[in-house]
Amino acid sequence: MRYLSGIQPSGTLHLGNYFGAIRQHIRSQDEHEGFFFIADFHALTTVRDPEALRQGVLDVALDYLALGLDPEKVAFFRQSDVPEVPELTWILSTVTPMGLLERCHSYKDKTAKGIPADHGLFAYPVLMAADILIYDSEKVPVGKDQVQHVEVTRDIAQRFNHLYGETLVLPNYQLDDSTAVVPGIDGEKMSKSYGNTLEMFASEKALKKSIGRIVTDSKSLEEPKDPEGNIIFMLYQLVAGPEEVTAMADRFRQGGYGYGDAKKELLRRILEYFEPYRERREGLARQPDLVRDILGAGAKKARATASKTLERVSRAVGIR
Ligand code: TRP
Repeated sequence: MRYLSGIQPSGTLHLGNYFGAIRQHIRSQDEHEGFFFIADFHALTTVRDPEALRQGVLDVALDYLALGLDPEKVAFFRQSDVPEVPELTWILSTVTPMGLLERCHSYKDKTAKGIPADHGLFAYPVLMAADILIYDSEKVPVGKDQVQHVEVTRDIAQRFNHLYGETLVLPNYQLDDSTAVVPGIDGEKMSKSYGNTLEMFASEKALKKSIGRIVTDSKSLEEPKDPEGNIIFMLYQLVAGPEEVTAMADRFRQGGYGYGDAKKELLRRILEYFEPYRERREGLARQPDLVRDILGAGAKKARATASKTLERVSRAVGIR
């Protein structure tokens, strides 16, 4: 099964990203043929600061490699290192009805938020279709917000195949129910746009501060507490072992155990959980050439597949 995921270089990662998606992506590398890329062309539709874009791409690369993505098992690369992608984008755009793009929620949402309605933002789904179709991807793991884009990709591929004969593989999206819904420090879904995140590679001090802001009820230290529905406890379950989880639940129920104590324990366990990744990340950050080489080798792998698809498409339409 060919599995493909595009990652926007949009800043520091939080526990919601990790337990909600990244961990599953990385686990998939043992079962599927994976293509993972950093979507820097897509980022251009919203990031206007060149230094921020360069840094964002490097950060994503460091994060994924540190968290265990294995460039020997998957192709890990930068979108813009595969020039076949923008070529295919153009060809696909000639078979993409305007109405299809006009219906896209993400375009409407972004312009409603004040992002300028430029052509790149409008054509974003066509570029995404090219990303997916160029590697004959079969499975695309996505969050809810990206489902429509995979459906648009299928529509575009179907229209192409209808006009020019069977050429493109129709992909399926995968909405993973097994992923954890991670609560933010206010109890809403953890999300950068809500400002309620815990960043796993933040400093101990910063993390302590965020954990300190986790919302709790006003029960006194002595009172017994129900661990269910308690945000501290929910987060603790993600990072602690089964015995530790039971122990915390027991302490809450017995009373004499305060939210401050539990927060301390949560901080300790988050730091411990991500410590090996943090060390690996720091090691990699000191070797930017190595990271560049890894992405370069990934792009070579990706292009081997992409050039074949582009050749097939080019022949189908008559430009070769
Ligand atoms: N649009 C995706 C996001 O914002 C990123 C992306 C770009 C992508 N190309 C892709 C995801 C192809 C899956 C497949 O998250």
